[in-house]
Amino acid sequence: MTAKEISVLLISPDEQIYSAIEGSLAGEANCQFTGRQDTVAGVNGAAISLTSKHDVVLFDVDENSDDLMQTARTICDARMPNAIIIALAPEDLPLEKARQLKKIGVDDVLPRKAINEEIVPQLDEIRARRQAQLPAVWGGQATMGKVIAVAKSRGGVGSSLVAANMANELQAKEGLFKKKAANEVALVDLDFQFGSLAALMDVDESDAMWRMAMDGSVPDGAFLEQAMIKSPCGVDILSAPSRYGPLSAVKEEQIAAILDCLKRTHDYVVVDLPRALVEWITPVLAQSDRLYLVTDVAVPSVRSARKLMDFYQAENPALDIQLVASLEKKPLIQAAHHRAAVKLLEKDFAHWVPRDERTVRESVDRGVPLQEVSNRAPLTRAIRKLAQETTAALPPRVGQH
Ligand SMILES: Nc1ncnc2c1ncn2[C@@H]1O[C@H](COP(=O)(O)OP(=O)(O)OP(=O)(O)O)[C@@H](O)[C@H]1O
Ligand SMILES: [Mg+2]
Repeated sequence: MTAKEISVLLISPDEQIYSAIEGSLAGEANCQFTGRQDTVAGVNGAAISLTSKHDVVLFDVDENSDDLMQTARTICDARMPNAIIIALAPEDLPLEKARQLKKIGVDDVLPRKAINEEIVPQLDEIRARRQAQLPAVWGGQATMGKVIAVAKSRGGVGSSLVAANMANELQAKEGLFKKKAANEVALVDLDFQFGSLAALMDVDESDAMWRMAMDGSVPDGAFLEQAMIKSPCGVDILSAPSRYGPLSAVKEEQIAAILDCLKRTHDYVVVDLPRALVEWITPVLAQSDRLYLVTDVAVPSVRSARKLMDFYQAENPALDIQLVASLEKKPLIQAAHHRAAVKLLEKDFAHWVPRDERTVRESVDRGVPLQEVSNRAPLTRAIRKLAQETTAALPPRVGQH
C-alpha cells in the first residue's frame, strides 16, 4: 500500500511553533507543508481558501480578539470533509472558550507552549494514521473511547449504583429483545478497598488488581483480557480486589495504563472512584472526559462535594464536572435547601436520581441491572437519561461498529 499524500497548513505568527512544525514535517515523505507566519486575521481572507485545500489545519487563536469564535467558525466551515482542525491557544485560555471552540467543530485545542510535548507528537500521530490510510478520523479523539469518572461526596450515597447502571445503559442495546449492545462498555472499580461492583453486576471477584498492586507491574492488554470479566448484562468489569491491600500500593502509571488500554477497546470506560484522594486518581482526572459527582442535598454532603469539586478542578482545570443529586427526585420547585446547595456549589444539579428502595433492593439481591427489574421505574429512567445525555455529549468511537 502506498502512503497517502497529506497536506498540513499552519497559520501562526509564532516563530518557534512555525519552525518546530516545519522542521518535524520536513523529512516526511508524502507530506506537504504550507505555512503562513501570521495571524488568521493577518492572512486576510486567504485563510478560507487555504483551509479548504488541506487535510490538517493548525491555527493560532488570539484569545483577546472579539472575533475569536467567528474566526474559528469560518475555518471549520471551510474545511475539506474529514479535515482535522486544531487550535493553538495559550495555556490559560478560559475553559469556557476551549469548550466553545470544540462545539464549533475544532477537533482539539492544544497549548501553544507545549510545542514538543503536545503539538508535534499529535501532528505526527495524525500524519502517521492518515498515511497508513486508517479511518479518516483523528486517532486522538474519535477512535478512542471516552472515560467517565463517577465520584461521591460521602459513603453510601449511591454512586456505585449510578456507575453500574449508567455503564449498562451506555451499551445502548438494540434489536428485538434489546440484546445486542451498540457500544462496548468497561466498568472499572477503583474503590480499591471497598469496591462493590462485582457483587452489583453478578461477577466473581478477582484478585488481578491486587496482584498488579503487589508486584508493581504495569498492566497491558493481555493483563486486562485476563483480569476483566464480562457480566451477564454485557459490561466488561475490572473488579476491585477480593482481598485487602494498602491504597498506596497502586501506582499512577498503572492506572494510566489501564485507562489507555481500555480506551482502545471500549467506547466507554466508566470508573467508580474511591472517596479517598489518593495520588493515583490524578491519571483518572487527567483522562476523564466527564466526571459525575454524586451527592445528596444534605449540608455536610454538599460541603464535601464543594471541596471535592475544587480539588478535582485544580487537578484538571478542563475537567467537565456534572453534579448528580442522589436519593431525590427532581423537585418541581426548588426548596430553600436546594437553592442553598446550588449557591454553595455554584453549579446546578445536572441530574436527579430518585430514591427507590424496592427496585434497588431487588436489583442488588439478584445482581441484575435496574433495567431488568423495572424498565419503567423513575429511578431506571433517570439513570437511562443520564446515559443518553452522556452519549449525546460524548459520542462512541467512530469506525468501530
Ligand atoms: N436511589 C436509591 N434508592 C434506594 N437505595 C439506594 C439508591 N442508591 C443507592 N441505594 C442503596 O444505598 C446503598 C449505597 O449505595 P452504593 O453502594 O451505590 O453507594 P456508594 O456511594 O457507592 O457507597 P460506598 O461508599 O459504599 O461506595 C446500597 O445499599 C444501595 O442499595
Ligand atoms: Mg461504591
